[in-house]
Amino acid sequence: MDSPLGAEASAPRDTQVLYQRTCFSCHNSGINGAPRTGDQAAWAVRLEKGMYTLVDNARNGYRAMPPRGLCFDCSDEEYAALIRLMAEQSP
Ligand code: HEC
Repeated sequence: MDSPLGAEASAPRDTQVLYQRTCFSCHNSGINGAPRTGDQAAWAVRLEKGMYTLVDNARNGYRAMPPRGLCFDCSDEEYAALIRLMAEQSP
């Protein structure tokens, strides 16, 4: 594609930027019991379910976690990257 805009739109999105726009609003503060970003103990319990289940729950919602977590166009790969970021990043 020649259009620089087109090239940008098809480039993989920066996980950190996506995170700030979406999951951040709940997972930074731990609102309603959301496992906090960087709280490795809280995430370890969740990761035991396996990444497939977690991606599924992010997409479909899980208890107080709303479906899609405010990212209405995230792919499964992007959910997995966001979950890894939240589980591994230092607070
Ligand atoms: C409106 C608030 C909110 C937003 C936005 C949000 N979450 Fe959550 N999330 C929660 C809450 C609350 C929980 C805890 C649910 C529970 O266990 O009761 C949770 C739990 C989770 C879990 C664990 C699910 C499980 O099976 O244990 C994953 C994975 C997750 N969120 C991913 C994400 C991702 C990825 C995003 C961004 C795309 C996101 N969340 C955005 C509130 C939110």
